[in-house]
Amino acid sequence: IERILEKKDLEGKNVLITAGPTREYLDPVRFISNRSSGKMGFALAEEAYKRGAKVTLISGPVNIQTYASIEIINVETASQMYDVVKRIKDEHDILIFSAAVADFRPKDFKSTKIKKDQLENFYIELEKNPDILRYAGETKKNGQIIVGFSAETENIVENSQKKLYEKNADLIVANNVLQEGAGFDVDTNIVTLVSKDKIIELPKLSKKEVASKIFDFIVDYLCKK
Ligand code: CTP
Ligand code: CA
Repeated sequence: IERILEKKDLEGKNVLITAGPTREYLDPVRFISNRSSGKMGFALAEEAYKRGAKVTLISGPVNIQTYASIEIINVETASQMYDVVKRIKDEHDILIFSAAVADFRPKDFKSTKIKKDQLENFYIELEKNPDILRYAGETKKNGQIIVGFSAETENIVENSQKKLYEKNADLIVANNVLQEGAGFDVDTNIVTLVSKDKIIELPKLSKKEVASKIFDFIVDYLCKK
């Protein structure tokens, strides 16, 4: 019965998803990163695949297994993620940027291990990484649907609307990362869907259920416009 009831409403669509954290190296053994587990991105990839899409997942370093039919491209740095997105984004109909991309990277990479001998304090100068979602929005093809995430601790909806317009996205999935049961390394999420003309507050759901709500919104609403 479940088989028969399964929606195949993404049949024929190519879906690109970014997931997980990035690593920004200081030297061969040290990097700056964040707490992203990749669970939300993998849940999105699996949902899209079940609904009939051809799925490509560009993932930072995570500890998750998924279906062999989902194409995974592994990257470490934001700059590598950016290069892959640039190369393949035009082949895709729906692009979802759920990765927790590091905003900054060390300005200088030292190719040998940094030694502590001569140092009492150690200062790291950081420079900005490319904004991958913004780039995809700026170069959006006709009919492409672009979805971003937004990690916020205050003014959730206002800040997400700002990202929606500034990055030329069709939907921002807003995340209050201070709320219990939301954000990093848990199996649930509490999000608000923010589009140009709709704001939908969802209750606490599993990341799998959140993924399903996001694709419902894309299929029932964004694809029809
Ligand atoms: N993003 C991206 N490339 C970056 C930074 C962010 O593609 N270099 C994407 C994220 O994947 C997410 C969206 O942009 O879909 C918003 O990320 P977020 O960190 O919430 O916002 P920022 O625009 O980076 O702004 P800030 O961190 O200052 O709130
Ligand atoms: Ca950021």
